[in-house]
Amino acid sequence: MKILGIDTSCDETAAAVVADGRKVLSNVVASQIEVHQAYGGVVPELASRKHIEAINYIVSRSLAEANVTFKDLGAIAVTNRPGLIGALLVGVAAAKSLAYCHDLPLLGINHIEGHIYAPFLAQLASQNLLSKCMMHDTLTFPHICLTVSGGHTLLVEVHEGWQYKVLGGTQDDAAGEVYDKVAKYLGLGFPGGKIIDDLAQKGDPSAIKFPRPMRNTNDYQFSFSGIKTSVRYFVEKARRAGLLVENGQENVEPTNPDLVTLEDIAASFQAAVVDVLVYKSIRAAKATGAGAITLTGGVAANSQLRASLKVAAAEIGAEVYYPPMNLCTDNGAMIAGIAYEKYRQGLRDEFSLNATPNGSLV
Ligand code: KG4
Ligand code: ZN
Repeated sequence: MKILGIDTSCDETAAAVVADGRKVLSNVVASQIEVHQAYGGVVPELASRKHIEAINYIVSRSLAEANVTFKDLGAIAVTNRPGLIGALLVGVAAAKSLAYCHDLPLLGINHIEGHIYAPFLAQLASQNLLSKCMMHDTLTFPHICLTVSGGHTLLVEVHEGWQYKVLGGTQDDAAGEVYDKVAKYLGLGFPGGKIIDDLAQKGDPSAIKFPRPMRNTNDYQFSFSGIKTSVRYFVEKARRAGLLVENGQENVEPTNPDLVTLEDIAASFQAAVVDVLVYKSIRAAKATGAGAITLTGGVAANSQLRASLKVAAAEIGAEVYYPPMNLCTDNGAMIAGIAYEKYRQGLRDEFSLNATPNGSLV
């Protein structure tokens, strides 16, 4: 059964066709990064407008790339929560109209459930991604899922039938959000995750000891705003003292041993974030006896997080699964994928389906 999955929850207009919840026939994403870059973050009103401009084309392209028409589909699924309300509404309105016109079942999907499903998806060999990701048919239940994106940080125990037990989440900023904010303090651009990740590879992660808030609390909660503030104060102080080697000054002769580089700040910041994420994920796997940990969401693209989690999981005999890069960030395939499972469980929505900015997993 082929499902069209649509996601417009944030700043990506995404549509995909997935067969039987496994086979990604197409996965089309229009990024709005260039629009929001000038503002250093996602501007909700602009996001909605750009979704409106792109949605019809992206849906048509996803069908064309999958080589199907609406007649070949069994259902239309759309993210209706959580996310930016104006952005969500565009996808929901499009999905409702298309489902009505083509007489197809409509399913409203939780965006986070999509992320949790993403590691399960197998990409078509023609997209040349099979070599870069694992096949996940061996993923067992229950497993621990760490969802880390620009809007969410959640540790979830995932049970058979896609039932969830939320173990913990962030008390303040999401992991991706702090990457973006720290990149802004450092004058590096938006979104900051990939930029900091790349920069960190050239820096010393032990150069600066940034705090690890809530690392040792007896729960599965996270707090990242303290790390962010600490980086901010450090950067301001170093700048005032003329000790920060900023962008464009890389070739300055380091005469002063107290000079700090963007590379070292990026690596030390990343070490703090990754340390807490890995520590609590491993703790959850140990406590629940889960034999697998999945990593998903935009921050799951982080090279250090992937590597550290793998090493730490191996020490407790747990497997780590993560989707290919293009399924870590927002996409329609993960929505179509989980929608297939929901469809089989009997989910159908009315045309009164609405978008809502919030939406808990359970
Ligand atoms: O899942 P996503 O595409 O959108 C949301 O649902 O939020 O995640 C976007 C977030 C951004 O904050 C971005 O900076 C972060 O994922 N990100 C990364 C990396 N690539 C993207 N963070 C750390 N390292 C990366 N390589
Ligand atoms: Zn997302």
